[in-house]
Amino acid sequence: MSGIRAAITAIDSYLPDYVLTNHELEQMVDTTEEWITTRTGIKTRHILKGNGKGTSDMGAEAVKGLLKKSGVDPNEVDLLICCTVTPDMKFPATANIISDKAGIKNAFSYDINAACSGFIYSLVTASKFVESGQYKKVIVVGADKMSSIIDYTDRQTCVLFGDGASAVLVEPTTEDVGVIDHICQSDGFGRVHLHMKAGGSVKPPSYETIDAREHYVYQEGQAVFKFAVSNMADVSVDIMKRNNLGSDDIAFLVPHQANLRIIDAVGKRMGLDKKQIMINIQRYGNTTNATIPLCLSDYENQLKKGDNVILSAFGGGFTWGAVYLKWAYDPS
Ligand code: UT7
Repeated sequence: MSGIRAAITAIDSYLPDYVLTNHELEQMVDTTEEWITTRTGIKTRHILKGNGKGTSDMGAEAVKGLLKKSGVDPNEVDLLICCTVTPDMKFPATANIISDKAGIKNAFSYDINAACSGFIYSLVTASKFVESGQYKKVIVVGADKMSSIIDYTDRQTCVLFGDGASAVLVEPTTEDVGVIDHICQSDGFGRVHLHMKAGGSVKPPSYETIDAREHYVYQEGQAVFKFAVSNMADVSVDIMKRNNLGSDDIAFLVPHQANLRIIDAVGKRMGLDKKQIMINIQRYGNTTNATIPLCLSDYENQLKKGDNVILSAFGGGFTWGAVYLKWAYDPS
């Protein structure tokens, strides 16, 4: 170990203006406000409208806000990682496009795709660059325009997802704060339960794939639910145990926001009280790569320097993981 830790030192978010309510969804598919609320906890989600607008537009807004808030000059940024499952294009990387739109020139930048675990995977990756001593200003941006891959005639998925972006600045520290431990895992057998059928190299786009509505999220909800609860809870409990953390030692669990029932089950396995769990799924739905930093952003004023925080996620792949960090700054 170099004695250097990586700490989140600033955060900013962007949510598009349009708010899609459960009542509006009632007019679109055979669903009810009551079903959505009781089965998922979601009330509203934000949707990015406008031709030619993509994930990078939201990501760039979050990054510009972050640079302004932290007083960092765009030219100082060494590395920008974007985690997304809805890149603007197959290539170039959305990270390259966000960097350009935010005025960041010549930085090392690339995308990570680990579905809903993307922010955990990316923060861990960013931390290793910072811990090496070579990278001083690293940005991780979680951004997804989920509305671009959702079938708004499929009631099983269209009620769940929303659009949004959030970015964190990761910097070196020698204080007793920052990222302390992580567990990141995957098991590709899970791809059968959650994937997009066409558009990749196995099944490139064709009239047939469009007619068969294969360019949308395909999810076997119940199967994914089961694995999400057990894997997210296991990994969160494991990281507590190996860092000798009791439930009272934890200021906040920051769980991926896919379903309130999954969040409740994970919190219960960790022995946490509701007030120790960051929850905003009711407002944003599942924004995939943006859920965890959006929570950190919303709860920023409640976080104090030295607070023990556990981030935890599960997603397509399957991928899952947890990060244990000590929060690095007090509310301003
Ligand atoms: O973020 C990445 C990972 N993703 C997740 O973690 C999501 C995990 N899965 C889930 O959150 C839940 O499985 C869902 C929210 C997707 C579904 O909830 P569920 O309690 O597992 O419902 P279900 O799929 O077992 O469906 C129960 C019933 C079915 O009707 P029948 O067969 O009992 O008549 C569904 O057709 O609810 C029906 N249903 C709906 N009804 C009204 C499914 N979607 C809807 C809907 N409105 N939107």
